[in-house]
Amino acid sequence: MTGKKDNDVDFDHNPKIKCQFKSKIIIGKNLRGMGYVCSKLTLKDVEKASKEYLKIIRCRKLNPQVKRQIIQRTVENIHNYFNKGYLEYRKSVTEAGDFAAIEWEGQGSVIKDVTGRKFIDFLGGYGIYNMGIRHPKIVESVQFQLNRMPLNSQELLEPLRGGLAQLLGELAPGDLQQCFFINNGTDAIEGAMKLARLATGRKGFISTLGGFHGKSMGALSLMGKAEYRTPFEPLLDNVHFVPFGDIQALEDELRKLKTVGASIAAFVAEPIQGEAGARVPPENYFPKVRQLCSEYGILFIADEVQTGMGRTGKIFAVEHWNVVPDILCLGKSLGGGVIPLSAFIASKKLWRKLEENPFVHSSTFGGNALACAAGIAAVNVMIEERLPDQAAVKGAYLIKKLRPLQDRYRKYWLSVHGKGLLMGMDFVDDATGYEIAAGLFKRGILVAGTMLSSKTIRIEPALNISYKYLDLFVEKLEETLKHIEKYGLHRNHKN
Ligand SMILES: Cc1ncc(COP(=O)(O)O)c(C=O)c1O
Repeated sequence: MTGKKDNDVDFDHNPKIKCQFKSKIIIGKNLRGMGYVCSKLTLKDVEKASKEYLKIIRCRKLNPQVKRQIIQRTVENIHNYFNKGYLEYRKSVTEAGDFAAIEWEGQGSVIKDVTGRKFIDFLGGYGIYNMGIRHPKIVESVQFQLNRMPLNSQELLEPLRGGLAQLLGELAPGDLQQCFFINNGTDAIEGAMKLARLATGRKGFISTLGGFHGKSMGALSLMGKAEYRTPFEPLLDNVHFVPFGDIQALEDELRKLKTVGASIAAFVAEPIQGEAGARVPPENYFPKVRQLCSEYGILFIADEVQTGMGRTGKIFAVEHWNVVPDILCLGKSLGGGVIPLSAFIASKKLWRKLEENPFVHSSTFGGNALACAAGIAAVNVMIEERLPDQAAVKGAYLIKKLRPLQDRYRKYWLSVHGKGLLMGMDFVDDATGYEIAAGLFKRGILVAGTMLSSKTIRIEPALNISYKYLDLFVEKLEETLKHIEKYGLHRNHKN
């Protein structure tokens, strides 16, 4: 190419598209002082900038200069326009070396940053990638639907919404059959809470310590950790907490609440606590929970937002104990890692109240055509690839390899636990947990702590991950531990 100016870059995949990546428009001229204070752009400049981003979206191959601009601009944009607090916590900024790791493309269990650095994904987007990233069948389904009708008219009947409801209604345990669709786990919990109130005519809830159900005001009221609750209080009242996995504590609470005449609609719990670090309850816990809820006439809401869709070795984790909840919530991988989608599912009997006035609970985007196209394909892939079985077998394979390593490094590493491919590794303190995650990041493996317990690292890869990558994970973890043993901890991590 001749006569090309520095900021006038051709995109390699299509020489006809010229990238006018004039970063000065946004970054150079409009940052003052620290380089971090922006003046407002003119409407024309905003239009220009939007064109640049559109070209970035369309482009497949970038030259080194554009890559550097994207890195710089992303960090600055997050700082200036999103939340600069993120930059401090993200290993993609703090541990990525000279250039922040900017997410660019992914396939299966591999994520590449804009410079082409490869990361093997053991975080799974906190549970959205059960089927892997960009599973071809799910992408294809969404693409077909995108070319026909992306969202809903809100008047004609939606074939894919009906189709996905049928699939989930048939898969769901026991008499659970009726589905409502929304776009994230939080909204699935909100809907389940509202249905529980509507169906029982009662108000209160019992939740578990360490439980995580989302951060809207209703879902947050069930949150078992103070630092996320306190700034937003008062939340819903009449919410009570019991330790997770302790059936005696639940029974005592139910008895106490009955004695004082508290009006309780439901007990809400994750079958395996995810954000708390893959905590598996004792074997007899959920059968007894079911029994107690029935005995005391309250509903049992199973939050399977993270544990559902095969993650723990069964389609739904409650199946490990043959338990049928009254309401089951799904999210995360329900959209196949391509489109956000969530659902709550209940019996016909509970649904009656929602049928009296179907608009008593509604959502503009819930169950939209693209999301349902993704959900239908996700269900198909889950069954066709036997993902629950893969999770069970691969989880057992991994834990067998990790246990001797944990034993060898027990002065840093307390335990490894979980079910299927929802696993947690507990380290002695936050600093050690962080150093392990950072060490793995530097070695091309993506993991993260949990929101409720930062000394626990969660392992949550795609369920169809290869054995080669499982072995690589163990190898890189061992390398990281050896490094720590030799050189000690470097960071004083504050979280
Ligand atoms: C068990 C559980 N429930 C609910 C949620 C909230 O889901 P979302 O972030 O999609 O709203 C999460 C998110 O991590 C979760 O793990």
